[in-house]
Amino acid sequence: MTPTGDWQQKLRLISGLVLFTFAGFHFFNHALGLISLEAMQQFQDWRHVVTRSAAGGLVLVAAIITHPTMALIKLARRSTLRMPLWEATQGLLGLCIPFYLLQHIAVSRIAHDYFGATDDYKYMLGGLWPDLAWAQSILLLIVWTHGCMGMHYWLRLSAGYRKLFMPLLALAVMLPMLGLAGFSVAGRQVAADKAEKARQAAAYGKKSYSGGYGEDSGGYGADSGGYGAAKKSDPYGYGADGGGYGAAKKSDPYGYGADSGGYGAAKKSDPYGYGEGEEDDPYGYGSPAKAAAPAVSVEDIKQNLPWLFYGLLALAFGIFAGRQALQLRLPRLTVRYAGGQTARSPRGPTLLEISRSRRIPHASICGGRGRCSTCRVHVNEGVEGLDPPSAAEAATLARVQAGPNIRLACQIRPGGDLDVSQMVPPITVPGQKAGYGSGEADGIERDMAVLFLDVRGFTAMSAEKLPYDVVHILNHLFEAAGQAVRAHGGWIDKYMGDGMMAVFGRDCEVGEA
Ligand code: FES
Repeated sequence: MTPTGDWQQKLRLISGLVLFTFAGFHFFNHALGLISLEAMQQFQDWRHVVTRSAAGGLVLVAAIITHPTMALIKLARRSTLRMPLWEATQGLLGLCIPFYLLQHIAVSRIAHDYFGATDDYKYMLGGLWPDLAWAQSILLLIVWTHGCMGMHYWLRLSAGYRKLFMPLLALAVMLPMLGLAGFSVAGRQVAADKAEKARQAAAYGKKSYSGGYGEDSGGYGADSGGYGAAKKSDPYGYGADGGGYGAAKKSDPYGYGADSGGYGAAKKSDPYGYGEGEEDDPYGYGSPAKAAAPAVSVEDIKQNLPWLFYGLLALAFGIFAGRQALQLRLPRLTVRYAGGQTARSPRGPTLLEISRSRRIPHASICGGRGRCSTCRVHVNEGVEGLDPPSAAEAATLARVQAGPNIRLACQIRPGGDLDVSQMVPPITVPGQKAGYGSGEADGIERDMAVLFLDVRGFTAMSAEKLPYDVVHILNHLFEAAGQAVRAHGGWIDKYMGDGMMAVFGRDCEVGEA
């Protein structure tokens, strides 16, 4: 299915597809924890061939920046926050994602690329399990639900998608479940390994070890290898934090406590130990080369990155609120609908937004994305006050061979009074608000062959025959025709007096019928 809509919608969709694909492989990678930690790691190495290549990294970063940016622009341009429930749910889930996701990116990709940290599964699981496991699990579920909703509302009009809906739904449910299970199994394994290593380190630390690692013997003494101050009673320097495998604390989830494997002086505000080190050994690597202390630490980035997004979110809401306030001062226009309703509105919103804000049912299967054409209206009066169709609107109108004065309500922003007739009546389903429908009741787009059957001269014939004979003839005709239609994959839509309408392509491809 080709992305449609204006360039912002296309960018949002394409970047969303990139992120959804990334998330799918990421969760599959988690699921391999059910097999083994090594399987997880191996698959991650394969994924990194793509995602850590120059091109792959560029695409990923572009998608991570583009997708939320387009969403914020869409929010700022809205004229009403009234929207279908599914759209509101998907949007709210999307707004929750950056809080945990950006922190996760900071301690994984950014720590790896800019601070030289390893971010393999063992490292990440060691840091996340068990204290941060719940947050990571919630992030996984939110990301996946948000993505699946986006995919569903993009594809739901497609016949191919409808056909594959149940297997895809099963996959959509199974993948995160397996991912969480794999994450849990592997996390517990890594935690057990850490505990065992800490126990061994503690046991070694108590022994008097004569292997030459005592006071500066073998280069481990005065921190020449970055292993901290080794002592006779703690020959490996594992005392305070066991080389990063010690007793991880809430404030030090990655176990980089007092001297996490030689990464310098870790602090509460810098649990990864990537912050300030000694002046002549900033990372505690004991390198003879003098390195400059980093201006920011991973912890700084982790703490502040989400707030950058939420600052932009506040800005988008501010623009939205400012536009609302401005619109209140502008002269109002009137939209009259063929059904007799009237809506007064400031200039600025799209016609669909005006309908929604006044709770006037208006079909909009694609949610106002300019893809479905179900919101189209015939502009009876006031068409001269509208801007010409954009390329995206013109393309959608051309697909349905729309006549003159037909416009998409989700794309036009009335600049003056309008009189319109809706071309597609809003679908009303019991228990569901009109015009906000979804699912089967909305229908789908599909190529079909349609058969109309009609009896020639039926009126004259029926005038000469007894009513029972007419009914008998029609019953025989419809029985024979019905069998033939069904035998060829057709579906009888309706009977109309002496006529019958059948469609081919509902239960099979139109070419097979
Ligand atoms: S084209 Fe789908 S709602 Fe306007």
